[in-house]
Amino acid sequence: MGDQAFSLHRWESEFSLDPALLYLNHAAVAPWPRRTAAAVAEFAKENATRGATDYPRWLGTELRLKQQLANLLNAPSIDDVALVKNTSEALSFVAAGLPWKTGDRIVTSDEEFPSNRIVWEALATKFGVEVVRVTLAGQEDPEAALIAACNERTQLLAISSVQYASGLRLDLQRLGQFCSEADIWFCVDAIQSVGAVTFDVTASQIDFAMADGHKWLLGPEGLGFFYTTPAARNALSLFEYGWHMVEHVGDYDRLDWTPARSARRFECGSPNMVGTYGLAASVKLLLEFGIENIARTNIENSLYLIDILETTPKVKAISRKNPSALAGIVTFKIEGVDHGKLRERLQQRGLVCAYRGGGIRFSPDFYQGKEMLDRAVRLLAEEAGL
Ligand SMILES: Cc1ncc(COP(=O)(O)O)c(C=O)c1O
Repeated sequence: MGDQAFSLHRWESEFSLDPALLYLNHAAVAPWPRRTAAAVAEFAKENATRGATDYPRWLGTELRLKQQLANLLNAPSIDDVALVKNTSEALSFVAAGLPWKTGDRIVTSDEEFPSNRIVWEALATKFGVEVVRVTLAGQEDPEAALIAACNERTQLLAISSVQYASGLRLDLQRLGQFCSEADIWFCVDAIQSVGAVTFDVTASQIDFAMADGHKWLLGPEGLGFFYTTPAARNALSLFEYGWHMVEHVGDYDRLDWTPARSARRFECGSPNMVGTYGLAASVKLLLEFGIENIARTNIENSLYLIDILETTPKVKAISRKNPSALAGIVTFKIEGVDHGKLRERLQQRGLVCAYRGGGIRFSPDFYQGKEMLDRAVRLLAEEAGL
């Protein structure tokens, strides 16, 4: 794509957000691109007028979505990608599927979203597995701290690639290399990275990765992916069964069955086809613009945002001002301010953001220019009385 076509104007024209809103909340739920809204509307119309007459075409869209996701993740094969309900479901497949014994250790961080904490805590109660939550804040080298917490009893390192509250992006290649050498399963909650920055399951030697579609993938809620290597998925016992997860899918008269060799074994029944139409349109857009371009813009914007925030009196960024530790999230605190109430006032004035990690989280996306960030910080200063 040429520079001209890659202009901000071109990006903006793909979205139809209300101009009265400053929408800095992609790390929560992102607005849909125009083409996503159109794909879902078209699919609704087709359902109303023709039902599932053309179901084989729908299956083609589903296959295309898997291929697009495999491309985005740099997965070796479409067979490594399952479509699932959400991140939590995929994490549950890992937690409930691995063969645990009392005393096994799981290493994670103390900043994880509840989806990537509760599944492991549930195992601690059930099997006597030890969950070690490594403190990330204030660590000069957070990856080294995670590695240091792994011992010979460690079976799994379960980490978010980007922390939902602080916005900290970890060096996955370094962690993956360590896990591979130490024979530890590497499980990555990728929801705050995929679509925002580059995410490469192969280069990072990831065994399990998962994300829902409604954040940086710009899709609807309730449809996500679960990536597994063949060895990783073979290590998981299954706990969801149905007609769709068998090798010979569609052969309803056949009485013998085995789980599909592919990641389809994690898709027990009918797919979320309306979500598939929406997510396929969104991921196509991301691939057209190029994830490297998107990543570069998001990281530049995060650095810019920290700069302008920190020139505002009393504002201190929680997010680290380091391009390799940033993605699309910038969180900050303001001295002497009730951040929960401030967020509500900002929302009333059309600045959509979140109250996370004890501060305010801004999460713009690549199609929003720096001018919008300037406006947001001006409005923040006004509302916070700075
Ligand atoms: C790091 C992280 N994981 C998971 C989720 C959501 O999980 P699910 O897709 O199961 O709703 C969020 C949502 O904020 C998140 O930030």
